[in-house]
Amino acid sequence: MVNFSLMGAGRIGKMHAEIISAHPNANLKYVYDVNKKFANEVAKASKCIKANSPEEAINSKDVDAVLIASATPTHTKFITMAAKAGKAIFCEKPIDLDIKKVNKCLNEIKNTKVPIQIGFNRRFDSSHAKAQLARVKKEIGELEMIVITSRDPEPPGIDYLKAAGGFFRDTTIHDFDLARFILGNDPVIQISAFGEALFDKNAKKQKDHDTAMFILKSKKGVLIHINNSRRAVYGYDQRVEIFGSKGMIISNNQTPTSVERYTNRSTTVKDTIHFFFIERYEQAYKDQFNEFVKCVTKKTKPKVTFEDGKNALIIANAAYESYRKGKVVNIKF
Ligand SMILES: NC(=O)c1ccc[n+]([C@@H]2O[C@H](COP(=O)([O-])OP(=O)(O)OC[C@H]3O[C@@H](n4cnc5c(N)ncnc54)[C@H](O)[C@@H]3O)[C@@H](O)[C@H]2O)c1
Repeated sequence: MVNFSLMGAGRIGKMHAEIISAHPNANLKYVYDVNKKFANEVAKASKCIKANSPEEAINSKDVDAVLIASATPTHTKFITMAAKAGKAIFCEKPIDLDIKKVNKCLNEIKNTKVPIQIGFNRRFDSSHAKAQLARVKKEIGELEMIVITSRDPEPPGIDYLKAAGGFFRDTTIHDFDLARFILGNDPVIQISAFGEALFDKNAKKQKDHDTAMFILKSKKGVLIHINNSRRAVYGYDQRVEIFGSKGMIISNNQTPTSVERYTNRSTTVKDTIHFFFIERYEQAYKDQFNEFVKCVTKKTKPKVTFEDGKNALIIANAAYESYRKGKVVNIKF
């Protein structure tokens, strides 16, 4: 049994609390959030202790692992505390928005041997993972192009935008990681980025974006296109296309049921696609957690490492540089 402390009881923290509580080999012992109402809600629902400080949650002797799902600027502090206390760590993406803080954290924990897994859940989606495996097995021959479409159903509120740190680092970071996952050991070397605020007043006010497109190139010359929007009226649009010399693989959108309607007005009308990430990636969130529990109990190496988190941030930073300069930017890891 792996005993957990959960840091952060907001939107994704609540989901993680449910996943921990439902797992046969995991147990939620403590929850900590500066928002006491949220912490109380999780403590009540999961029958765990509401810690009064990060130290109580992280350093308690009866805790084996810490799941960090608090606001992004808190991640590196909690990673360092947990690593020094010898606890296994699962940390939500992004590690931080500032590469200097990420490097400082890495330096502070380098002598600790605890496993650290970063929450790039899309790698665990069974459809995306199957597409990646097909690439590894060369089912589509030589890889030539990757096309990733990732559009949210609706823009977040202004408070979220103020804290999130920008579209490329908060949202596209998932797609940068997914591109790295599909490419395998062929690193991304160049990026060209465009961003606009076309419809969301809050994004405009924050000098952020609601619409973005990226072209990346790998060392072997694979071309990658990523497009993002903060609004898709039909739901959470998540598609991945992998194209090569012997064909194409598509990981497509998913609907809650497989029902199709045929009427005198239309044929093959399906349910609308899943609303947002918690519904669409339910299986992936559970499987990434399973994998983490396996790392802790069987002492295996995490499949998504601190370095993966750092590299995705390096690509996001290069994307901002490209956007600002209006130029193709070379990426150095
Ligand atoms: N992997 C994914 O698909 C995914 C999806 C959503 C969010 N996230 C990430 O998860 C993290 C949380 O996002 P969210 O959407 O749940 O945000 P949220 O605002 O709903 O929740 C964040 C919580 O952190 C708490 N918090 C702030 N400072 C704290 C501190 N010092 N100590 C303890 N708790 C503190 C807040 O009170 C809040 O309850 C972010 O890093 C975000 O990027 C990942």
